[in-house]
Amino acid sequence: MITVAGFNTAIDHLFTLDALAPGAVQRAARAELYPGGKGLHVAQTVAALGERVQLVGLTDAAHRNLIARRMAGRGVLFHGVEIEAPLRSCIAVREADGRVTEILGPGPALAPAAQEELLRTWWRCAEESALLVLSGSLPRGFVADTYARMVRQAAAAGLPCLVDASGEALRHAAAAGARLLKPNRDEAAELCGCRIDAPEAAAAVARALHAQGVAQPVVTLGAEGAVGFDGRQAWHAAVVLERSVNAVGSGDCLLAGLAVALKRGEPLEEALRLGVACGAANAMDEETGYARRARVDALLGEVRLRRLAA
Ligand SMILES: Nc1ncnc2c1ncn2[C@@H]1O[C@H](COP(=O)(O)OP(=O)(O)OP(=O)(O)O)[C@@H](O)[C@H]1O
Ligand SMILES: [Mg+2]
Repeated sequence: MITVAGFNTAIDHLFTLDALAPGAVQRAARAELYPGGKGLHVAQTVAALGERVQLVGLTDAAHRNLIARRMAGRGVLFHGVEIEAPLRSCIAVREADGRVTEILGPGPALAPAAQEELLRTWWRCAEESALLVLSGSLPRGFVADTYARMVRQAAAAGLPCLVDASGEALRHAAAAGARLLKPNRDEAAELCGCRIDAPEAAAAVARALHAQGVAQPVVTLGAEGAVGFDGRQAWHAAVVLERSVNAVGSGDCLLAGLAVALKRGEPLEEALRLGVACGAANAMDEETGYARRARVDALLGEVRLRRLAA
């Protein structure tokens, strides 16, 4: 079993229109609404790859059924902690040329009791798991080193944690010795205070994270793929796509691929192969944060994997 902590469940609204005109009243050609959040994306892609997975996150009365139905349909066991305040809303506007503008709501601020219930639920699930994923922003109210504490609690029980966070939470998780971190180009640049203009620069960040105690750091580079370091060898993996439809959530799908391969005992380079296939598969579809199994299988043979010089 893989357990994903994706506490800050979102309700995503996707509007499709010709061209966004700020300040004007516009009618969308299509409007869709679905449950979202980075942890939810990871969990549904893990399920698509055929591994048992459970997700721990917030829910509210208005969206309880929507989330439960979607997760059940995708094969994810959802453990929702219900709160009174509405979940955060995120709006994405997709234009005809493929450009996506995202507005992310601030989300509810959690009282200590709700925070404790999320952590208790997570730990109950974690104890029956082989691998843990902590993904996305924490709801307001949690302190910045919450992921770091969760990583330490898991490590003490011999459970590896894969973490996708940014800013302070990422810095703390690195210091706590997460098994794997996966900053994207911008997050990694902020972390090291340097520019990441090539896979070699990403490998340097991965090596620095490894020296800090992160066993298998991965840095993602959007269309240029991803770089990982396992303590011996730095690897670069990528899939070249003719066209990207919507790459939002590709990092979440890549993380799902890494989690599934590592849970199966694969070495980091094979995890990167599955991860970049999942990231690219997500970019081929309109839906945010879901890699379909058939697409992933078809892309696996297209992955270019190479060793980077030390
Ligand atoms: N246009 C693309 N073509 C091919 N592969 C892509 C493309 N965009 C993303 N990917 C794959 O997905 C992975 C993750 O993408 P990216 O670096 O954009 O993550 P991210 O910024 O964390 O995304 P998000 O946070 O929205 O999930 C990349 O490492 C790459 O393997
Ligand atoms: Mg990301």
